[in-house]
Amino acid sequence: MELIQHPKVLVNEQKIAERISVLGKEITKNYKGKKLTLVCVLKGCIPFTADLIREIPIPFIVDVVHASSYVNKHSTGTVQILSKPKLELKDRHVLLIDDILDTGRTLTAISAALQEHEPASIKTCVLLDKPSRRTEPIYADYAGFEIPNEFVVGYGLDYNEYYRNLPYIGTLDSD
Ligand code: IMP
Ligand code: MG
Repeated sequence: MELIQHPKVLVNEQKIAERISVLGKEITKNYKGKKLTLVCVLKGCIPFTADLIREIPIPFIVDVVHASSYVNKHSTGTVQILSKPKLELKDRHVLLIDDILDTGRTLTAISAALQEHEPASIKTCVLLDKPSRRTEPIYADYAGFEIPNEFVVGYGLDYNEYYRNLPYIGTLDSD
């Protein structure tokens, strides 16, 4: 499929910013006084994390985990965890941040891997949720927008690594 210049807008910049502000307030309220570590799933989480952390005015630390499962527009079904968090997670409240919850395989695999570090809790926060695609018994504790079963790009989400820089969430025509 060709790279098109202007994918169709599904969620615009303003809506993203407004929703992230609300999510930030909820997270702030729920984690006040707790030892919080945000663990972000590279690479799709980058813009979302950058905007979200500035809406959470309480002390917390940030770490990253690198996972990959998609080739073209299709999930390969196997989640590769390419790198794990470096900071101590024991007895800390972990909030996993990802761009999208699709089949649920990625966050299920990462949660299981992090559980071995004995955190106080693990919860999930995603910008987008595609519940119709779920194959794993996992839900998002915090979700920005529920979207239909369409392949989306932008604001961190890629198609073969491109489009992460779009400031909005857009859809590509199906092949
Ligand atoms: P899951 O493991 O199927 O839940 O997929 C999660 C990962 O697949 C996300 O972190 C994304 O990187 C990728 N992904 C799922 N759906 C889309 C999409 O519509 N566009 C781009 N990437 C997607
Ligand atoms: Mg991806």
